[in-house]
Amino acid sequence: MDLIATAIKGTNDVLPSEAYKWHYIEKTVAQTAALFGFQEIRTPVFEKTELFERSVGDTTDVVQKEMYTFNDKGGRSITLRPEGTAGAVRAVLEHGLFNDALPVRAYYITSCYRYEKPQAGRLREFHQFGVECVGAPLPAADAEIILLGRMVLDRLGIGNVTLQINSIGCPKCRANYTAALKSYFSAYKEQLCDTCLSRLDRNPMRILDCKSPVCKEIAAGAPVILDYLCDECKEHFEAVKGYLQVAGVDYIVNPHIVRGLDYYTKTVFEFTCDQLGAQTAVCAGGRYDGLAEELGGPHLPSLGFAMGLERVLMLMEKQNLPFEEPAVPDVYIAPMGEAAAEQAMKLCASLRAEGFSALTDLSGRGLKAQMKYAAKIRAKYALVLGDNELTQGKANLKNMATGAQVEIELPHGLVSAVYDANIQTAFDDLNDTLEKFDKQS
Ligand code: HAM
Repeated sequence: MDLIATAIKGTNDVLPSEAYKWHYIEKTVAQTAALFGFQEIRTPVFEKTELFERSVGDTTDVVQKEMYTFNDKGGRSITLRPEGTAGAVRAVLEHGLFNDALPVRAYYITSCYRYEKPQAGRLREFHQFGVECVGAPLPAADAEIILLGRMVLDRLGIGNVTLQINSIGCPKCRANYTAALKSYFSAYKEQLCDTCLSRLDRNPMRILDCKSPVCKEIAAGAPVILDYLCDECKEHFEAVKGYLQVAGVDYIVNPHIVRGLDYYTKTVFEFTCDQLGAQTAVCAGGRYDGLAEELGGPHLPSLGFAMGLERVLMLMEKQNLPFEEPAVPDVYIAPMGEAAAEQAMKLCASLRAEGFSALTDLSGRGLKAQMKYAAKIRAKYALVLGDNELTQGKANLKNMATGAQVEIELPHGLVSAVYDANIQTAFDDLNDTLEKFDKQS
């Protein structure tokens, strides 16, 4: 088969048979965010390019190499969001949400776009669950956000995840650190890649997250920011660690985490797992105390994280974790002939009106093929409607799992029979569970 077009490299389709996994993950993250008081924010998939240049930073890999940027028909430079923080903070500022009670607690489940080399766990269109807590200067906020990330991973059952934290200080401590980096990297001018060479004067910290192997090796011996923190940043970091200890959350301090986005200040963190192939971070974030001002708003110390949902899914599958089972159809009605097909339509409508899912034949199949189909879609009950059933006004409702049949009066007996059968099944399940429980104890 020669298709006119196939999906773009680095993008994924979620097929109907797999969608329940996404629903389960999305439900779990949203419910956990709600436990911490977060409400959903939805922002446009594209924004003005300068929003990302100013927030993510024009010397970052994301802005320099990875953005999907284009001119729209009005000649404006537009970019598909490479991450969710910039748009969320823009919306908070634009709608003046900071005038209400602070902090603003917003979460999102959203698609992001980065022109990266696709590989396992690295896509060009990917999805993030992110949280942003705007207007929360205390170290307790850092701990709370980290606890939220941890709780989401725990509730999904994901194991083998390490929390790594660091502090990258504020602009005050950054000045001394930048000077130290400049002098260190200047000795390697000949070896640095062209991009890093251009970063040397403007933003040498970005050399620390260059993906080129040579730059990576040079960066491994660079001075670390923790040695340059001012007293306030040191104190803040100590307090965050203290809160994490009190909460019983294990972490390791990794002074090499600097994050690839420019807006970060003070605490940064990553939840990493070695089952993600070349990628390691399943969730990452930190504080961005200067971002609101950078975007023209008031001073609003803030922080957040984003979790890569494809990576979450990959880990859950690798770790054989359960997903909530998808709902199966309640009833399949197999009509034989035209009059029966009309009756089947009516019966389906009355079942659906009562909240039961009901399907009937749309492909013109014979009885055997229809019953096969009913089994394939795992319908709970099936009903055969032929001439006999129509003339007698009676039909048999078959429980597909047990084969048991009950006779019903047509048309009004069906809905109540499905109710009764469901109650019976629930009752049987309960009895099974109690029996198992009795045997165990
Ligand atoms: P980030 O580290 O660029 O941070 O991305 C966060 C997470 O998104 C990563 O840890 C990873 O799980 C996932 N991710 C990133 N790029 C890809 C990709 N190409 N394919 C698949 N998954 C990917 C941010 O985006 C920040 N906005 C996080 C944040 C929110 N910081 C504060 N608030």
